Amino acid sequence: MTRYDLALIGFGGVNRALAELIAERGDTLEAELGFGLRVVAITDLRAGSLVCTDGGAIDLAPLLAVAPGELDFSGLAGGSPDPRNEWVIREAPADIVAEATFTNPADGEPALSHVRWAIEAGKHVCTTNKGPVALHGRALQELARRHGVCFEFEGTVMSGTPVLRTARRMFGGLAVHGFEGVMNGTSNYVLGRVESGLSFADAVAEAQALGYAEADPTADIEGHDVQLKVMILANEVLGADLRRADVPCTGLSALTADDVRRAAAEGLRWKLVGSAARRPDGTVEARVAPVALPAEHPLAGVCGPVNAVAFHTDLLGAVTVAGPGAGRVETAYALLSDVLAVHERTANLAGAELLQEAGRG
Ligand code: HSE
Repeated sequence: MTRYDLALIGFGGVNRALAELIAERGDTLEAELGFGLRVVAITDLRAGSLVCTDGGAIDLAPLLAVAPGELDFSGLAGGSPDPRNEWVIREAPADIVAEATFTNPADGEPALSHVRWAIEAGKHVCTTNKGPVALHGRALQELARRHGVCFEFEGTVMSGTPVLRTARRMFGGLAVHGFEGVMNGTSNYVLGRVESGLSFADAVAEAQALGYAEADPTADIEGHDVQLKVMILANEVLGADLRRADVPCTGLSALTADDVRRAAAEGLRWKLVGSAARRPDGTVEARVAPVALPAEHPLAGVCGPVNAVAFHTDLLGAVTVAGPGAGRVETAYALLSDVLAVHERTANLAGAELLQEAGRG
């Protein structure tokens, strides 16, 4: 039976939820998906690093029994108080690096280096981190191609809802002219709660407690998180090469609670909309801004942490993908779906090699 050994870089909500999935349903997943999963290394800014170099795997249950803020790897065998990210990523005996550290929208670091180190070390990378993908996605894909490894990032847009894979795999033969979407769970949740009477500050605090918001919720509220997602989606689906400066961004601070409630009374609903469209000359224009949508608009009914992207296509008109846009478990599922993509690709390559060998024999 095939088995993949994982190094988890960042042990906050998402990778911890992935570890929970592996600990609680690893056997079921193995029977269903045809491969086993083990965790052989974990690094975390606060807890340090933990690495198995003896051919075994980390026993996850005792780690998961400790509250996140209290985890300390330093006293454990193979543990260190220092995350030692570069050493762990390059040297730990992992097949796949699951990168889920915080997103840095300015330059993508330190996640960008994490991804590069892993690819250079010949390891597949699955990441939920928008920074490296939005800012350097094309270069990283090329680096991964040259090193013969996979670089997967489904969780960077709409958490585990397969919006990137749907567009890549299911739209063959369609021309996609553009898309518009509600792509941030926090801001969408906040708008709904403000509509029901909460202040912006209280609604943001709720979204943080529910695990939707980034460590610094400013990126959620001011649209920078959506800006990165628009870049990722436009670069992947429309073949664009957008930089942050190409995507003008207005956030929710342009709105007051009164604006939100007044619009609701008039049958309108404010949404933070990210969009991109191909111009007649083939270039792509994109933006992020709050828009007051009429009730009949397909995105008006997308509420709470649910997100949706409507793709505009030639043969089908609008095709809308909707589902969770944020959350620990939902984003951990994205990593699992990325591992499955790695498995499918490596199984296909192995199959092609066997066929070639059979042809030579
Ligand atoms: N903070 C993000 C959101 C998480 O609220 O949508 C997913 O990128």
